Amino acid sequence: MAQIGYSKKVMEHFMNPRNVGVIENPDGYGKVGNPVCGDLMEIFITVKEDRVDDIKFRTFGCGSAIAVSSMVTEMAKGKTLNEAMKITRKDVADELDGLPPQKMHCSNLGADALHAAIKNYWVKIGKIKPEEAKPEEGEEGESCET
Ligand code: FES
Repeated sequence: MAQIGYSKKVMEHFMNPRNVGVIENPDGYGKVGNPVCGDLMEIFITVKEDRVDDIKFRTFGCGSAIAVSSMVTEMAKGKTLNEAMKITRKDVADELDGLPPQKMHCSNLGADALHAAIKNYWVKIGKIKPEEAKPEEGEEGESCET
């Protein structure tokens, strides 16, 4: 196949995305918008014994966003919530063997939506206050390459 700048893993997750869909009555729900392109990502989780039991995503993003979300859901499934909170945008891009520089902003959506879903759950169970569930400061834009 011609070199098109996407790793095999990105193509594979794009063609066969894992965990696509919606969970009715999720324990945690995260929705984030991409400030660069305006695309949207939603992540739904259920939690059992402090672990991500089930996770699904829905995105209006591009192919890279689909691959990233598919990967992030695989990475998060079965992890404790604290471990899943530590998955960074860079971890996801690395796990996919990288993304083209102009597509790095797409990788933000997956980890950000995952963190938002976990925080949403933590607010529900009273572990954190609603104001602590805001998006992480200082991350916005800094890894956007376009
Ligand atoms: Fe919008 Fe990739 S998520 S261009």
